[in-house]
Amino acid sequence: MVAALSGTEALSLGSLALACIGVLFNTFQGEGAPLVASIAFSGLAYAACYALIRWLGPAFVRRGFKGRDLCKTKQTEIPETMGAVCAMVYIFVLIVFIPWPFYKDIVAATSGGGNRDVMKELEEVETGRLLHKFPHNKLASYLSALLSLQCIVLLGIGDDLFDIRWRHKVLIPAVAAIPMLIVYFVDFGVTQMVVPTPLRPYLGDLFDLGWLYYVYMAMLSIFSSNSINILAGINGIEVAQSLVIALLIVLNDALYLSPFAPYPHPATDSHLFSLYLLLPFIGVSLALLKHNWYPAKVFVGDTYCYFAGMVFAVDGILGHFSKTLMLLLLPQAFNFVYSAPQLFHLVPCPRHRLPHFNARTGLLECSRFEFKKPPAAPIAAVLMLLHRLRLLHVETDERGELRSCSNFTLINLWLVWFGPMREDRLALGLLAFQAAVGVLGLFIRHRAALLIFTQDNW
Ligand code: UD1
Ligand code: MG
Repeated sequence: MVAALSGTEALSLGSLALACIGVLFNTFQGEGAPLVASIAFSGLAYAACYALIRWLGPAFVRRGFKGRDLCKTKQTEIPETMGAVCAMVYIFVLIVFIPWPFYKDIVAATSGGGNRDVMKELEEVETGRLLHKFPHNKLASYLSALLSLQCIVLLGIGDDLFDIRWRHKVLIPAVAAIPMLIVYFVDFGVTQMVVPTPLRPYLGDLFDLGWLYYVYMAMLSIFSSNSINILAGINGIEVAQSLVIALLIVLNDALYLSPFAPYPHPATDSHLFSLYLLLPFIGVSLALLKHNWYPAKVFVGDTYCYFAGMVFAVDGILGHFSKTLMLLLLPQAFNFVYSAPQLFHLVPCPRHRLPHFNARTGLLECSRFEFKKPPAAPIAAVLMLLHRLRLLHVETDERGELRSCSNFTLINLWLVWFGPMREDRLALGLLAFQAAVGVLGLFIRHRAALLIFTQDNW
């Protein structure tokens, strides 16, 4: 159960919040310093989310948002759906932040060329506004991101309340993505892909995907929001994997800012936009991780998983780096493909596929599903083959018939490979894997890209 805030915690959070507010006031001295403001807002988001999780936890339990930690000896009920708190704080922060990235433009549009020292007569200000110079397209991008995220949070809360069926909820992220896809269409509209050098003789330098590109982006929203939800079930893994991905995107964004890239780089603005969306996300996620890490005091709920996935999709699409994003989501993609036989019911899929807690050893083992009737011969043959390749663990009876099989998730596969282990070690191992794959992906993206493309856009 979550305890009330201790004196030291209240003091540290209070000081952090005050410091951030101080920084925010200072940003008005210059041109608004949006990146500094965004960092300050992220600090505020952390403090607010941390305190709200403590304050609201008991209220959530009273309303029935609670769950049992299945991997513990004593399965106490703890607050569920704390991701809703994160998402709300995040959305409020993004809304309050709106003036900062546009501060320069607002000043320029309302008081004459950004020169605030030139005082203008009132009528002149009213009639002579330079609002047509205001970057409405950037504001539209930002607002569409907010709208898409709000939609997905509604879906998440709905799912946590009513456990919506998989086949019903799978399309909702695609609908949530429509606002940002429209903005993408109007504002950017690039639907061509750069063709790798070896394929150029056949396809030309650029290959236009046309409307299929929009289908691809809608699918990306479905994939990234659902894939985090099914790589879940042990303390801290949902939030921590999202944090690793977010930090890697921040690293990638930083490569496009000075001093790493010449200023002004054509992609600077879209990567700044990406940072404005990600930094507060990191703030709220850190506060949640503090409470969700082993031994968990709260659960994140499906709200958090969908929300985090959508933050990445929105960020990648409107920041124009959706293919780089796919590299960072490779472990999730593997888990998705690996899960497919269970998701599509080729083999049985129990309600929970999280690892099995062995109360005697206190360690997690891979969880299994039983075959009620023997599977069809081709399926059995494939399962046996995967078992031999150590990509599964099956148990057979005396007659060689399949009896049970480890569940098809990356988390269980990890346990098949490395044997039983404690919950936090399992989470750390998976996170190290996520980080290693991501760093390698970025390296390939920026270095080895030259092997198959004529230039890297960095
Ligand atoms: C998804 C997975 C399911 C997995 C579940 C765990 C698929 C298709 N579905 O379902 O296999 O078991 O997530 O999150 O892959 N819980 C813990 N410890 C944790 C986290 C969760 O015991 O660290 C349990 C709690 O009882 C909690 C429940 O899982 O209440 C939450 O499950 P929920 O998010 O509703 O499951 P799904 O997202 O539907
Ligand atoms: Mg879930």
